[in-house]
Amino acid sequence: MTIGEIPVTIGGTMNAAASPQDGPHGGPSDREFMARAIQAASRVRCITSPNPWVGAVLRTTDGDLFEGVTSEPGGPHAEAAALAVAGERAVGSTLFVTLEPCSHQGRTPACTEAIIDSGVARVVAAIPDPDPGVSGGGFEQLRSAGIEVAVGVGADHARSQLESYLHHRRTGRPFVVLKLAESIDGSTAAPNGTSRWITSPSARADGHRLRAESDAILVGAATVRQDDPSLTVRDYLPPVRPRAGSLDPIRVVLGSAPEGAKVHPCVEMSGDLGALLDDLGKRGVMQLLVEGGARVAGDFHRAGLVDRYVIYVAPAMFGGDDAQGLFRGAGAWDIDEIWRGQFRSIDRVGDDLRLEIVPCSESATGEGSGADANLVSGETPGAL
Ligand SMILES: NC(=O)c1ccc[n+]([C@@H]2O[C@H](COP(=O)([O-])OP(=O)(O)OC[C@H]3O[C@@H](n4cnc5c(N)ncnc54)[C@H](OP(=O)(O)O)[C@@H]3O)[C@@H](O)[C@H]2O)c1
Repeated sequence: MTIGEIPVTIGGTMNAAASPQDGPHGGPSDREFMARAIQAASRVRCITSPNPWVGAVLRTTDGDLFEGVTSEPGGPHAEAAALAVAGERAVGSTLFVTLEPCSHQGRTPACTEAIIDSGVARVVAAIPDPDPGVSGGGFEQLRSAGIEVAVGVGADHARSQLESYLHHRRTGRPFVVLKLAESIDGSTAAPNGTSRWITSPSARADGHRLRAESDAILVGAATVRQDDPSLTVRDYLPPVRPRAGSLDPIRVVLGSAPEGAKVHPCVEMSGDLGALLDDLGKRGVMQLLVEGGARVAGDFHRAGLVDRYVIYVAPAMFGGDDAQGLFRGAGAWDIDEIWRGQFRSIDRVGDDLRLEIVPCSESATGEGSGADANLVSGETPGAL
């Protein structure tokens, strides 16, 4: 599927009269159309960076639906794509969009202008855009032009879908995903340093999806010396791929990579991890995938810099106490000091388990939680 084929007419069966107006969280129809927009956005997760992956559904006065998604950088945003296919049918319509429309001219014209010019009567948005260039300004412009605006429909799902973008815009740093593969007895490498492969091909393919969704991938120099990884995306094909260029994220090595290592060309970094994240954030890295090894994983973990843990657990055992654990370095000394998080998901992937864990603070604030879980089915592999 190419980007050019994405904006398609997908409806014609529904009647505008059947659409109830919103309460604060939207009527059933609003939620249904927002779910379509969120589903559409998931297709372009791997091509829009540094822009957010957004979906839009335009519902005409007689119930026809037109869909748009964010294109590759420089191409139309989701709202503009949906408006382009709807043409004059946009007059009086409702536009459902997963993120606040942009209100500033960037590489493309402001979406708010296109929406106002098109004659759309009502905009239903899932969440505001924290980008300082938007930050409520999009809604304000639409309201000033007499367009009815409702915000918050499908907000939990949109927040979850866009969490790395939102985190980057709020903090200036990438959203950090730490991915490791371990045996059921908690080891990530044998005493002789070998670790390939602990998990099944399915789990490794899922790891490649994480790579494709990330802007940069980081490993320690010892992993490069031991494994000579290429850190490319090989076992995953997203529904929509970049027209040119590759899916491979920027490769970052902590320390230096030996000459001739497969990881070249790469960025070699060193020193304070917080400063490193600031630097990567400035380079537009929205999501950083940390793939170990145990020293690097322990340093990120103990510094409180991990936003999401993805641990693949194989039904295998090293069977002793001399294998490498998840983390190197001194951990909690006392049981009262242990780190606690919450499971966000537990899935079976091939022969293995995939555990997704978030720090407790995130669960407490609800950032990225999927509370309205019946809105859109997730993309994670089959639940247990
Ligand atoms: N199961 C898994 O998911 C998994 C994933 C990856 C790796 N592994 C295994 O893990 C093992 C390697 O792990 P490891 O704990 O020995 O090492 P590591 O975490 O891969 O790398 C540690 C090294 O990175 C460099 N480094 C770390 N932080 C740095 C900083 N802030 N500034 C500059 N350099 C920094 C240092 O390199 P120098 O030594 O050059 O100073 C340090 O010794 C291998 O056996 C590999 O197979 C397993």
